Parts: sequence; C-alpha cells; structure tokens
Amino acid sequence: MPASTSLDYNPAVDDPADTKPLPDVPEKPADYGQWWNTNEHGADWYRTIYGYRRKAHEYFLRWFWRANELGPAFRSVLEVGCGRGDPYAALLENYQYTGIDISQKEIEWCRQHYRTPRHRFWCGDFLTEEFRERSDLVFSHAVIDHVYDINRFLARMVSVSNRCIFLTAYRGWFDGLAWLPMDASGHLLP
Ligand SMILES: C[S@@+](CC[C@H](N)C(=O)[O-])C[C@H]1O[C@@H](n2cnc3c(N)ncnc32)[C@H](O)[C@@H]1O
Repeated sequence: MPASTSLDYNPAVDDPADTKPLPDVPEKPADYGQWWNTNEHGADWYRTIYGYRRKAHEYFLRWFWRANELGPAFRSVLEVGCGRGDPYAALLENYQYTGIDISQKEIEWCRQHYRTPRHRFWCGDFLTEEFRERSDLVFSHAVIDHVYDINRFLARMVSVSNRCIFLTAYRGWFDGLAWLPMDASGHLLP
C-alpha cells in the first residue's frame, strides 16, 4: 500500500505502533485540583508561566484580533483554566468574558479584581460542570496538559463553543499524554 500523505495521515499505515489498544478513560483522581487551590502561588507565578509561553500567547492574540476583524466579531468568549485571568480578562474587557477555573482561591481573586459587569468568573472542573450556554470562542492555554481526560476536555471545548476553539499546551502534543502518570494536580511524575 503506498504511504499516505501528511494530509491523510493514517496511523495504521504510517505509524503501526499507534494501533496499540488505548487504555480505558482515566478516572478522576479523588484530590484532583486541590493543589491549584491550596498552593502559595500568586500573580508572579502565573506571570512566570505566561512568560515561558509568551510566543504562544502572542500568536493567539494575533489570531484573535485578525479573526475578529474578518468577522463576524466574537461577542462571547470563555477562557478555560483562566487562573488569575491575566492578561485576558483585562484585554477582553469589552467582551462578554467568562473565566472558569478549578481553583476557588484564584476565582475569588478574579472576582475581587475584575469588576466589569460583562465578566463572569466561575469555579468548577471544566470536565464535569454543566453549561447552559455556548460562547463564540472557547480558548485555553496550558491546561490540557493537566487534565485527567484529554479527549473529554477537547470534546467539551467543542460542545460549549458556537464557532471557534483555540488551545495551546505546555509541552506540545505527544502520544499517550493522557496516560502518562501524573500527580493529583496533573503534573507529570518523573
Ligand atoms: C498552568 S495554569 C495556566 C493558567 C493560565 N491559563 C495561563 O496560561 O497562564 C493551569 C490552570 O488550569 C486550572 N485547571 C486545571 N485543571 C482544570 C479543570 N479540570 N477545570 C478548570 N480549570 C482547571 C488550574 O487551576 C490552573 O489555574
């Protein structure tokens, strides 16, 4: 059989190792998310994470303004794993912006510091919360690497979006990320 082109990549032909059966969907660890709620980190830490990934954020922002310009403009945006909402809550102050994060401490901080009536901050696990409405754009930075079920994360991003999703990962994609051993906060174990 001829090798397929990269446009119709078929793991069975191109990479037979990928055909191994996938493990069951991972269970939610009992203490998932606790670390984000109890750590001592604050604004500086979130800014450091942002700094590591500055290019990805710059790329996203260029895409955002361009997509908005080409229209139709986004009206509602949902940021998944917003942390301190920095910088998007401020940059998107004229949009109907919702930030969801599993950390009560960060969501409280956001509620106290961003007082725009168009903004909402919601504490919950994105994988299990019920959404009553969709947003034009659903975006997420540096969260998918932490979650205990990547497929569900992606499917939920699509299901709560009206139009677009945009996500970036810390480490980039690699095979089996969902099944690598992680601690309860979603950090990879050595
Ligand atoms: C590495 S930080 C990234 C924060 C921010 N998005 C950024 O790019 O700087 C990961 C964030 O995702 C949140 N988080 C992790 N799992 C989550 C989940 N299942 N649902 C909602 N938020 C989650 C954490 O509380 C934390 O604030």
